[in-house]
Amino acid sequence: MSRLTLFAAALLVAAPLSAQDLSVYGSADAGQMVPYDAATRTVSNEALQSTLYELISLKHADHQAHWNVVGPQFYSLHDLLGDLYGALDPYIDQIAERQRALGMAADGDPGRAASGDGLDAFPEGLLADYNVPKILSERYMTVIERIEMRVTETGDAGDSVTQDLLIGTAHELEKHLWMLRSFQRQADGQ
Ligand SMILES: [Fe+2]
Repeated sequence: MSRLTLFAAALLVAAPLSAQDLSVYGSADAGQMVPYDAATRTVSNEALQSTLYELISLKHADHQAHWNVVGPQFYSLHDLLGDLYGALDPYIDQIAERQRALGMAADGDPGRAASGDGLDAFPEGLLADYNVPKILSERYMTVIERIEMRVTETGDAGDSVTQDLLIGTAHELEKHLWMLRSFQRQADGQ
């Protein structure tokens, strides 16, 4: 096979599927195999996609703090943050797979997550242990508040399954927030 042919083949593989290409996969990807109308699926998909971007960003923030925290509380925070970023993985997966179950595509691209999460960039460089719980708690709080609005929106739209998934996700994030805040009080000496 010539280099030109290989290049053309690579382009074909990388190109997104057209509507015509997708038609070979039948009606399931058009959302006709789920008990929700197009308006409900749009509300759910937007809620899920925004949450997916935010969870990916939270995971990267936990990871970055896990690596860069310094100070007397290093080991405890390093350990806790390792648990927190690992605990987000099943939720990221369930959110994306719920989008697919609704006949939508899930976007987990890190670049688009960073620009689509509506969160400030995470600080670069080393992080003092007494700052880490506060920085992360604020990000978790922002995301939890947004998810709680989406819980209402998806319920009002009639998709109680997506609503339930978002409630479960908020439940997990609130547990992370409790752990971070407990640490913050300890670090602040209160
Ligand atoms: Fe690690």
